[in-house]
Amino acid sequence: MDYCCPHDIGAARLFSRMARWQRRRYEKHGFLESQRQLLEGLAQAGMTGAALLEIGCGVGYLHQHLLDQGAARATGIDLAEKMIGQARETARARGLADRTDYRVGDFNEIADSIEDADATILDKVLCCYPDVEALAKKSLAKTRRVYAYTLPRKRWWVRLGVEFMAAVLWGFRSPFRSYVHDPSVIETWVTAGGFEKCYENQTAVWLTQVYVRRSDRPRDRKLLGDLQRCGEATPR
Ligand SMILES: C[S@@+](CC[C@H](N)C(=O)[O-])C[C@H]1O[C@@H](n2cnc3c(N)ncnc32)[C@H](O)[C@@H]1O
Repeated sequence: MDYCCPHDIGAARLFSRMARWQRRRYEKHGFLESQRQLLEGLAQAGMTGAALLEIGCGVGYLHQHLLDQGAARATGIDLAEKMIGQARETARARGLADRTDYRVGDFNEIADSIEDADATILDKVLCCYPDVEALAKKSLAKTRRVYAYTLPRKRWWVRLGVEFMAAVLWGFRSPFRSYVHDPSVIETWVTAGGFEKCYENQTAVWLTQVYVRRSDRPRDRKLLGDLQRCGEATPR
């Protein structure tokens, strides 16, 4: 895939280098704490039968797990070709090839060619993109029912880590940078898009939030019957 923006070129290179390691890390250690929280929020929102869109899906284990748990199908998108290579391979190995569709690209560039989904997931992705407003708004526009993400908390130690990483990347001449975007600003875009928060949790570094479309509050919803608790947001 040829990207023209330096940030995308840098991200694609960096994350392609990390793809094998990412897969091995998951196979050895399983989900990170923040991902367990994300899965808890998604389970509360009800994923049975859902069509998933995972942007910045990496090697794919998160949506593949949701498919094993009863989601119907998933589209995974990532800038990094080797991440998608690993995702395709693991989907085949887990017998999920016919329920997954993978695309290499910058979601913002290819959004028009992507189908709407019941649930859109961005796990540690909003922080990897400079134009977070476009990424959030375009992905919200694709989302019928559930919008979920993890992003870095706005804390001094997180900023320090991001600045240290920027110095290392600068040393390696990589144009990629990560960002500590303001979660409260992202929240205003999500709620303005017609969603309300049904789950929130955090680790020392990551904030996890899951939203459901207002017209699709669990108590109003007939479609997916596996949820009672959504709407009782965990306090921050
Ligand atoms: C920190 S990694 C997280 C990967 C995966 N979600 C996980 O948690 O294991 C961020 C991923 O998002 C991808 N990414 C960042 N911005 C993107 C965009 N605009 N479109 C598609 N993928 C993107 C990167 O290539 C990278 O693989």
